[in-house]
Amino acid sequence: MQSIIDDVRLLEFKEFGDERGHLVVAEGGDICPFNINRVFYIYGSDHDVVRGKHANRVTEFVLINVSGTSKVRVKDGRGGEKEFSLDHPHTGLYLPKMVWKEMYDFSADSVLLCLASEHYRSDEYIRDYDAFCQIVAEH
Ligand code: TYD
Repeated sequence: MQSIIDDVRLLEFKEFGDERGHLVVAEGGDICPFNINRVFYIYGSDHDVVRGKHANRVTEFVLINVSGTSKVRVKDGRGGEKEFSLDHPHTGLYLPKMVWKEMYDFSADSVLLCLASEHYRSDEYIRDYDAFCQIVAEH
């Protein structure tokens, strides 16, 4: 059976490196599959913290550890789940809408950059896992 987490995938961004250092480009509609309307970043999370724990009805995301490392667990609400490690500043994780996500195992130097397809609207976040499973089951 087709699962939403089959659409979750790692993206490799273009990296321009020379003797001056590195420059990575994330352009909307290119390797990042949506136009970017919002950027936020997460840092200073302790190793045992689990963030996220929500699904979005509308918004798609790309997560990039521009510094340090973290892990992302995704769930489809039907029993399917996968884990991804983010450990390169040129690697992103694409998250489609309606996927449950949990970010954890943050390194002390983790800076997790999040690109989002939509402006922030709290009412499109589903923050209760049982409610998410219920919504998935109804579709
Ligand atoms: P939250 O969704 O709990 O963060 P995470 O997904 O990492 O667990 O967001 C933390 C707070 O920040 C919450 O009060 C909502 C607010 N917030 C905004 O105002 N705008 C945003 O774009 C985001 C992502 C969060």
